[in-house]
Amino acid sequence: MKTLFTNIKTLVQVRENEVQMLSGKNMQNLPIIEEAYLFVEGDVIVDYGKMESCPTIKVDEVIDCSGKIILPTWIDSHTHIVYADHREGEFVDKIKGLSYEEIAAKGGGILNSAEKLAQAGEDELFEQAAKRVEEVIMMGTGALEIKSGYGLSTENELKMLRVIKRLNEHYPIPIIATFLGAHAFPKKYLNKPDAYIQEIITQMLPQIEKEKLAAFVDVFCEKNYFDLEQTERILVAAKKHGLTPKIHVNQFNSFGGVALGVKHKALSLDHLEVMTDADMEALKGSRTMPVALPGCSFFLGIPYTPARKMIDAGLPIALATDYNPGSSPSGNMNFVVATACIKMKMTPEEAINAATVNAAYALGLSKNYGSISKGKKANFILTKEIPSYAFIPYSFGNNLIKKIFVDGKEINY
Ligand code: NIG
Ligand code: FE
Repeated sequence: MKTLFTNIKTLVQVRENEVQMLSGKNMQNLPIIEEAYLFVEGDVIVDYGKMESCPTIKVDEVIDCSGKIILPTWIDSHTHIVYADHREGEFVDKIKGLSYEEIAAKGGGILNSAEKLAQAGEDELFEQAAKRVEEVIMMGTGALEIKSGYGLSTENELKMLRVIKRLNEHYPIPIIATFLGAHAFPKKYLNKPDAYIQEIITQMLPQIEKEKLAAFVDVFCEKNYFDLEQTERILVAAKKHGLTPKIHVNQFNSFGGVALGVKHKALSLDHLEVMTDADMEALKGSRTMPVALPGCSFFLGIPYTPARKMIDAGLPIALATDYNPGSSPSGNMNFVVATACIKMKMTPEEAINAATVNAAYALGLSKNYGSISKGKKANFILTKEIPSYAFIPYSFGNNLIKKIFVDGKEINY
């Protein structure tokens, strides 16, 4: 199947050479072609250029894109999309003034989701998550990470990871699994944390490796969750089973988790709402991608990751949704990009780079995703008629997407 997209008002994020990580001032550079064509063969981008040099070739379909913009699909490198039921009750408690920590202390939070997930069968979990996956694809997400972490027992963590594996097999976008067994201590282990860490290390990790159920390992490194020593023990063990580290870190407190992540060559460190100078220093010169989750800051009313300060200091940033039932019940990357601009003072160029090129890096997908490049997967968003790409974050909350293409084919759920 050969498709030619013609008269594209602006073709956004066009990269001749592979880029992996955009940092500091380079985040402002968003390469575009005005009045462009794009040629797709099968599932791959084959060619692009100015309309005036559009080749006259025989194709199966020509799609006229007058007035519309094409940009690569968003990459969401941090979600918890597999969960059972919702937590609107906690939402109301939060409106009435309880904090995330207070809600967790009274039996809500991650342990609440773990109880619900324990009751749900694998098929039911798959059906619930599939709806969310379809919803985010239609909002422009073309690659996705999903974490376990509401299982908190060997049986239920593996159940979650098997659901993620099935989702990956079922949908045309890459869905990559992260093992987050260390999301919280389950109730029965509250007084014997070491025993739970032992279960992670001796029961969960070997089985995950055996069934190839995850690419990454993650730990919620935070006060009342996992401390530095526990986090390190889990990362070291997981690396031996072939998993690459990521950490939920500095969401509420900074106590050395960032430096620990860099030391263990974490591919990404996520949240970072609270950042000290020492944390910034630790990230400098590393190959670790800091990931901001503005949907979580918006929903919980906690500080936003200081992205402006970080970029000005020469650091990279990626953006993700953190789609989960407790701190960010939305998987809308368009909203995330808009919020990054409106609340974190990122420019539209920086935010688009953060949600495509840098997000691909945070998921280990730079080779095939994240930009309009020859040989990369033909995953892109065709917008409605809009005046410029800056209109995407500007017109926040509005649906500007006309069509989604995955592997070169229009997709509809
Ligand atoms: O990334 N912070 C830890 N984990 C999730 C929230 C999980 C939940 O509340 O269910 C997060 O925000
Ligand atoms: Fe998260």
